[in-house]
Amino acid sequence: MLVNATAMLQAAVKGHYGIAAFNTNDLEWTRSILTAAEELQSPVIIQCTRGAANWQQGFKVVKDIVEDLVDYMKITVPVAMHLDHGTYEDCFEAIDAGFTSIMYDGSHEPTFDINMERTAEIVKLCHSKGISVEAEVGGIGGVEDGVASNGELADPEECKAIADLGVDFLACGIGNIHGLYPEDWAGLSMDRLAEIKALTGDLPLVLHGGTGIPTAMVQEAITNGVAKINVNTDLQVVMAKATRAFIESGKDLEGKNYDPRKLLKPGFDAIVDRAKELIVDFGSDGKGWA
Ligand code: 13P
Repeated sequence: MLVNATAMLQAAVKGHYGIAAFNTNDLEWTRSILTAAEELQSPVIIQCTRGAANWQQGFKVVKDIVEDLVDYMKITVPVAMHLDHGTYEDCFEAIDAGFTSIMYDGSHEPTFDINMERTAEIVKLCHSKGISVEAEVGGIGGVEDGVASNGELADPEECKAIADLGVDFLACGIGNIHGLYPEDWAGLSMDRLAEIKALTGDLPLVLHGGTGIPTAMVQEAITNGVAKINVNTDLQVVMAKATRAFIESGKDLEGKNYDPRKLLKPGFDAIVDRAKELIVDFGSDGKGWA
């Protein structure tokens, strides 16, 4: 059964650990994430952008794949099906498709007031259906699904205003960016995180752009209130690297290794291994129903 992400993230805040939110791209990707979470008895959030949903033929297909795999694989840990960076319109579509958790990313709206109004509306609708809601304040830099933003330190007062609308967890820019970090990246601003935390209390905070942040820095952010860490590029990179190694070794030319079940297996095994490392780094292993 799929659950919303509220209880698992509140438990993470209390227990001072983080929960990984991994983006999925297809059935095997989802299976790899679920395998890692189950083996380590960790709660997990599987999330999907509009772009990755289009690739998989829509939000309903994505949700059905996740739900059916949870059932078929007899997964015993909590799993949330989350919309990542939804536009206002995406939110309604994902809600109809049965997502148990929604991110309305209003940080790209023309004004903060529009972000506030729409977040309030989405919170009301989602809570009437038992769905958890993530909102965003301050753009997260980098390019994701063609959406670029400047990357900024979120305004703590704006974070408080959005938090007070009753959102269940909040994404706020603290110097993080999506994708691979440039060499000269300044790092996360723990000062800004502390200012936001001081105004938002026990609200779980979300760190986007979880790829490539030094482990100790992520762990410091977790200690300071981050409970959900979004990871996408990292798993794509390990998948691509393992696939490349398999092909470059010439193994793809042996026997029936052109069969996608063999050709792509090293890549999916690499996702399982890397997801497990990250779960341990974030400290959610063994926290199944904590
Ligand atoms: P990365 O691709 O940098 O891991 O970021 C993922 C993310 O924040 C999804 O919302």
